[in-house]
Amino acid sequence: MVRYNTGYLSGFLSEDDFRLVEEEARAASEKLRSGSGAGNDFLGWRDLPLNYDKEEYARIKETAKRLRESSDIFIVIGIGGSYLGARAVLELLQGEAHNELCKPRVYFAGNSISSSDLSDLLEICETGEVSLNVISKSGTTTEPAVAFRVLRDYLIHRYGAEEAARRIVATTDRSRGTLKKLADEQGYETFVVPDDVGGRYSVLTPVGLLPLAVAGIDTDALLKGAADLRERIDLDDSLDNPVNLYAAVRNLLYRNGKTVEVLSCFEPRFRMMGEWYKQLFGESEGKDRKGIYPSSCMFTTDLHSMGQYVQDGSRFLFETMVSFLDTNSKLSVKAAEVDFDGLNYLAGKTLEQINQVASDATLRAHVEGGVPCSIIEVDQMDAYNLGELIYFFERACGVSGYMLDVNPFNQPGVETYKRNMFALLDKPGYEEDKKKLLG
Ligand code: PA5
Repeated sequence: MVRYNTGYLSGFLSEDDFRLVEEEARAASEKLRSGSGAGNDFLGWRDLPLNYDKEEYARIKETAKRLRESSDIFIVIGIGGSYLGARAVLELLQGEAHNELCKPRVYFAGNSISSSDLSDLLEICETGEVSLNVISKSGTTTEPAVAFRVLRDYLIHRYGAEEAARRIVATTDRSRGTLKKLADEQGYETFVVPDDVGGRYSVLTPVGLLPLAVAGIDTDALLKGAADLRERIDLDDSLDNPVNLYAAVRNLLYRNGKTVEVLSCFEPRFRMMGEWYKQLFGESEGKDRKGIYPSSCMFTTDLHSMGQYVQDGSRFLFETMVSFLDTNSKLSVKAAEVDFDGLNYLAGKTLEQINQVASDATLRAHVEGGVPCSIIEVDQMDAYNLGELIYFFERACGVSGYMLDVNPFNQPGVETYKRNMFALLDKPGYEEDKKKLLG
């Protein structure tokens, strides 16, 4: 279960503050629930954990089984919302060393245009049987398209066109786009990114579910966790709803000059969840010259780098800590006959207990340093609780965006660099843009 704990905020926000913003949060929550706000054609994610396509889900599981059996190496090609969710869930549940510990090995490509990264991956491909999932809602995004062209050539060269086609699965729009056309021509298995779900909200669609099922993640539990939270909060527009409370806290702090949110966690395997959260909130809220800047820190390691700034630097930060109460690992510190390192005072304690104390100590220090802190508590580090956490953030992002008075479901700003890049690369149709750019 996921809970939101505001116990450390008392020195920063008062009952009056919450009273002031209560109606606004209620209106934002109602807008999201009733679908009467901006971007309401992209609300498919809201009911997904319940209303997903059951037939397609069964096919995801069959395909995943087939790919698991035929592959040592599984490559997920995609960028932004088309890869971050799957990678975040995979790393949180199987750890950053999943490729050393689990089968098949899963690699991510097409999230940059780095020649060296793709060259490394081609070398890795020589170490086992390979299959891939190319994911692009639009089917036209340059980064995954370039990686797909290279990796598809590799598969055809290695396996021949027919077997390569069995080893390629495309996740894309139902009927439009270059990728859909190619997949149909080549006979690739395809899965659909629903029209009404934007990339950053798509982890619980085939975009995330297929790669996760191939990796052996319990996707039933992931969906169930999200569905259960939805069930618990869906009709509650008040601040008793933890999602609304978190959205309200973010907006209150933002209005008090706290313009940067630090999402912190004491589990290094949460790192990519931090990246997923950054995309979710950054693309949803950063517009119209407004928005909280989302950042993340992995503690305790970042306490030895960013910790100084968080404690003592400019005071525009607030911190939201994600705390896993049970991490399924019970290593402990043993007593040593000779206390050579002076650690016997910790003997008998689990690392999990020590980590909890570290997080408590950090919260107290940061509050003392003037950083408003709140905690998202997660009972267990497993697929079910992670499903809840994903839905918690998605829903909070929608409410928070409406409180900020932006459309949380579009991303007009990401087009500018693409237009410039196409112009500078001489893509047909961008001749005028090139002239403008180069004067
Ligand atoms: O959230 C978004 O919409 C974006 O991050 C997209 O997911 C990203 O740009 C990739 O787009 P596409 O799936 O069309 O290749």
